Amino acid sequence: MWNLIQPALILLSVLMSTTGADEVVYRQVGETVTLTPPQEFSLNEYYMYWYFGGLELAWHNTHGGTGFNTETKDEQELQKWKGKLTWSGDSLIISDIREEQFGTFTCKLTSSKGKRETEYKLLKLQVTMNPPSPLLPGERLSLTCDAERPQNSKQPEIHWLNPQGERINSWPREVTATGRHNGEWTCVVTHNNKESRAKIKVMVVDLSPAPARPVYTSKSSPLTIPCSIPSDITWEQVKAKSVQEVHWDFFPNPDSSLIPGDPQRLFSLSLAEKLTWQPDKNRGLTPVSGLTKGNLSLIKNKAKEEDRGDYVCTMKFSNGVTLNRTVQVNVLQIISSPGTDLISGQQLNLTCSLGRLLPSDLQLKWFPPEQSSLLPLTSDRDPALVNIPEVGTGDGGKWRCELWQSTTRLTSAVITLKIEPKLSVWMLVIICSVTVIVFLLLLILVFILCRRRQRKMRHLRHRLCHCKNPKPKGFYRT
Ligand SMILES: *[C@@H]1O[C@H](CO)[C@@H](O)[C@H](O)[C@H]1NC(C)=O
Ligand SMILES: *[C@@H]1O[C@H](CO)[C@@H](O)[C@H](O)[C@H]1NC(C)=O
Ligand SMILES: *[C@@H]1O[C@H](CO)[C@@H](O)[C@H](O)[C@H]1NC(C)=O
Repeated sequence: MWNLIQPALILLSVLMSTTGADEVVYRQVGETVTLTPPQEFSLNEYYMYWYFGGLELAWHNTHGGTGFNTETKDEQELQKWKGKLTWSGDSLIISDIREEQFGTFTCKLTSSKGKRETEYKLLKLQVTMNPPSPLLPGERLSLTCDAERPQNSKQPEIHWLNPQGERINSWPREVTATGRHNGEWTCVVTHNNKESRAKIKVMVVDLSPAPARPVYTSKSSPLTIPCSIPSDITWEQVKAKSVQEVHWDFFPNPDSSLIPGDPQRLFSLSLAEKLTWQPDKNRGLTPVSGLTKGNLSLIKNKAKEEDRGDYVCTMKFSNGVTLNRTVQVNVLQIISSPGTDLISGQQLNLTCSLGRLLPSDLQLKWFPPEQSSLLPLTSDRDPALVNIPEVGTGDGGKWRCELWQSTTRLTSAVITLKIEPKLSVWMLVIICSVTVIVFLLLLILVFILCRRRQRKMRHLRHRLCHCKNPKPKGFYRT
């Protein structure tokens, strides 16, 4: 029945035909395009047909029924569209576009009221990168975006969006690759105020940027020294760029007991089949577990003041490219002079420091124990130093010193003081008196004991005298 209606409709439409404005759509090979009919027509009044050149592809009837053309003289031509067309409502979707599918699509709407044709120009957009990813920083990178020029129309406007989403109006033919180029680039083609986008992934093997501010930790906190390669770059790709060595070095702070400027090799990465860190002088640091995912960070449970310094993560390639990132580690520490075990009345100095001059944008805040005699802390003193001329037992307990950068607490250090009460004069007097009394009592006791003993001795001697001169009369009488 459809075959009978069709010629009649075409005949009718020839009489009342109008042509709509053309649309230009840009796509890359392999992408998908959705062709939507002009919206000003009610589709329960119009039959809709989609054509590619002269080939009918699909139809949509006034009851919402849809289908694809299966009958044509040129079977081979139709075969090329098999599995690529789908209907979504009244829109036609063409997926996995191939070279031969770029061209002009026509949407024909027909009804008794007239005929309407709209042309859709599917044009090819091609983004290319040379040389292919991944790159090393310093290598030349060229990105091109070619947009097919529509016939009888002006050249489309082209601009780029970098991986950070920033607009770049004119892209030079070539640039020197850096880690900032790593990520997804978008070429935006604008024609008649309609945008088409094409994406391309650029991979630059680089170490992630060093942290924006140095690492701040304290003797009572853990230490993490970050370094990584972007997670979308695999070790296979890094190895393919002929990586030679990966290692961590430590440059102690000049004021440390170690010789300044004398670096220590902490770890070297064994680049064999299985990646493993080979410790050298590990200084209590351990590599984190995410090495296979590109995480080269080092950690330690508790930082020490001798951990202060610069940690350098280095990656060397055989073509001479060396990547490195420096992480400055600061350890906040409270030093008590003369010590942490004190007797009330002693003078005490508490110093909170990073072991070097405090940068001017950082502030220190002290938190003495609640019952401390020093509360409230006066503001006119040196912020790094707490001086107590005479400590009291209330000053014992936990003292906290915090390091702040405007509204951010960077780290805090804690020290625990033990303060024994001092013996007072009255206590001394009492102790002395008691000692004297006890001594006197002892003397008296000794005296009494001696007297007793003397008396006993005399008594004994008396009895012994009797024995020495016995009166034998009685013994011999029997
Ligand atoms: C690396 O590991 C550390 C410690 O587990 C973690 O804090 C850090 O976020 C990781 N870095 C990346 C880039 O995954
Ligand atoms: C880090 O690399 C830069 C240049 O790539 C180099 O000048 C510097 O000496 C390197 N630093 C270390 C500690 O190796
Ligand atoms: C505390 O510091 C002052 C100077 O700020 C110094 O004169 C004093 O000797 C120090 N006391 C102790 C116990 O370190």
